[in-house]
Amino acid sequence: MQTLFIGQHLIFLHEVDSTNTYATNLLRNVNIAEGSIISTDNQTQGKGQRGAVWNSEIGSNITISCILKPHFLSIKNTFYLSKISALAIYDVLTELLPNSQFDIKIKWPNDILVNQKKVAGILIENNFNRDVLQYSVIGIGINVNQMEFKGLQHSASSLKLLTSHVFNKNDVLEKLCQHLEKWYLKLKGLKFSEIDEQYLNRLFGINQLCLFSDINNNEFNATIIGIDPTGKLILQHSNGKLYYYEVKEVKLVY
Ligand code: BTN
Repeated sequence: MQTLFIGQHLIFLHEVDSTNTYATNLLRNVNIAEGSIISTDNQTQGKGQRGAVWNSEIGSNITISCILKPHFLSIKNTFYLSKISALAIYDVLTELLPNSQFDIKIKWPNDILVNQKKVAGILIENNFNRDVLQYSVIGIGINVNQMEFKGLQHSASSLKLLTSHVFNKNDVLEKLCQHLEKWYLKLKGLKFSEIDEQYLNRLFGINQLCLFSDINNNEFNATIIGIDPTGKLILQHSNGKLYYYEVKEVKLVY
């Protein structure tokens, strides 16, 4: 693995409930190095955003958790972990899908879409002690060689479905570790404005009128203006006013 620390310690499990849960338990019980990766072929209780389930065909995809210890990051800046994780996956996909026929975008807060279909998702679990971020578990699922997405055929895809090529999962994982390390080091160097700029540039629907649904499943149209420093989505409604939304408050319909 051509990295300084991310992926240098790799724990591979044939089967586990969730790599995020496993990583969190490890962190509670042993002193595990920053950059350690937990990877599995089969998650029996994979976790997604907003309490959803993350299903992944056995052996076909990347399902990993990366352990980070961003003690330097203040609580108000934790959304930067989402931003750098999304940017890292964006860079991996750009390297693997160099052809201009692929439109790669980050969908707020941190899904990665290719040609408007979800190819990767991120679930970050943070642990604080008083006001200091003790550790973060960055859970990443990338659909690599899976060919069928039951019930999600219109909204999900994989690298193989997009290209008809089989991808080597170890190569994908190595690239992911390299790009994650690159972006994490930028964050450690407090390059906030560079991260913000890149994230906004790659954001799905930026400055466009999009369809959303709120917590009561009411649909509405609004224009995506940007993201505030805490990660809230800033939308301009038809009355011209700006509204700020947390992840659980609104969903982009695409
Ligand atoms: C989402 O888009 O809903 C987030 C999906 C995150 C899935 C990954 S797979 C590896 C890690 N372990 C989990 O239980 N979830 C994350």
